[in-house]
Amino acid sequence: MVKICGKEVGPVGYGMHTLTRRGFALEVEEGISILKATFDAGYRFWNGGMHYGTPEYNSLHLLNAYFTKYPEDADAVVISIKGAWDSTAFIPYCTPEGLMDSVETCLRILDGKKKIDIFEPTRLDKQIPIEAVVEVLGALAQSGDIGGVGLTEVNHETIKRAHAVYPIAAVEIELSLFSTEVLTNGIVKTCNELGIPVVAYAPFARGWLTGGLKSRGQLKEGDWRLKLARFNDEVWQANQAVVDALMKITERKGCGINELALAWVVKTGALPIPGSGRKEGIKANMEAAQLKLTDEDCEAIDEVLRHVKVHGERYGGSDQKFLDG
Ligand SMILES: NC(=O)c1ccc[n+]([C@@H]2O[C@H](COP(=O)([O-])OP(=O)(O)OC[C@H]3O[C@@H](n4cnc5c(N)ncnc54)[C@H](OP(=O)(O)O)[C@@H]3O)[C@@H](O)[C@H]2O)c1
Repeated sequence: MVKICGKEVGPVGYGMHTLTRRGFALEVEEGISILKATFDAGYRFWNGGMHYGTPEYNSLHLLNAYFTKYPEDADAVVISIKGAWDSTAFIPYCTPEGLMDSVETCLRILDGKKKIDIFEPTRLDKQIPIEAVVEVLGALAQSGDIGGVGLTEVNHETIKRAHAVYPIAAVEIELSLFSTEVLTNGIVKTCNELGIPVVAYAPFARGWLTGGLKSRGQLKEGDWRLKLARFNDEVWQANQAVVDALMKITERKGCGINELALAWVVKTGALPIPGSGRKEGIKANMEAAQLKLTDEDCEAIDEVLRHVKVHGERYGGSDQKFLDG
């Protein structure tokens, strides 16, 4: 069971992107109903962002609506919010003014309905030292404006430097059977050494590991995955081969690839935060996180990952430059 901000939130959290994403947002009542389904299924960590949607309707607005309707749930859920991102210019906004302005905006939208347990900059501004960023956010945590400071898309040196300034509440990184780098590049090791919980985003590799994705043509116009390198036509077959190889394991084990994908992340000790806009998906993912993998299963998975490689960068294009190397 993963503990974040002093609360038990495992084995699986919920990624809110799909509920309010730009151009595809669900109606508010439907969003509330989906969040309620996650709560009823036992999810106690919700991951949102100011840029999940528009300045007029994003995760914060939906959270306000949810906790207005269900104020009794507020203390039970840990929310982690990404901000400090300029949604017009699509660049980080991590100056002291930018950070304070962003936290203030989140608080204004939440309107006291829910505390921000963790605030994290969406991406770092390479011109601004991490120490300066964490100093500002640490002061906001000390004054009670936010509960804690989180980081996302940071390398292990950045984590160490940040944690030396103010204790980091959680580090959110991409971790899935398609993205295993953080297990060997020092990020997970550093978090474990410093006692920082790891939140694993996109545990289904944004849909690759659900068994439901068969061709690029399935993605609707405006789906942001069309911009990602791993969804390009040139690498589609190569990446499908990884899925097919993993499916041979699931056939032997008698489980779905989504179950294998989630159980594998849980076994690393991280908290996976799958996104699903469907109540069935939400229920299935909570159940999937309970699946136990044997040593034999893990060896079979390792064997596949050693021999069948994922093609394409995690992001590619203009988004790749914001990753902290
Ligand atoms: N820190 C960062 O930079 C960052 C970046 C990206 C994402 N995130 C966070 O991570 C969360 C999850 O990422 P993500 O949504 O991009 O990718 P994901 O969780 O890897 O995959 C989501 C996809 O899987 C499908 N799915 C989910 N459960 C399923 C199930 N049981 N069976 C079949 N299909 C299923 C969803 O479709 P349905 O909706 O139809 O179920 C959706 O297409 C986001 O919501 C966000 O909070 C953080």
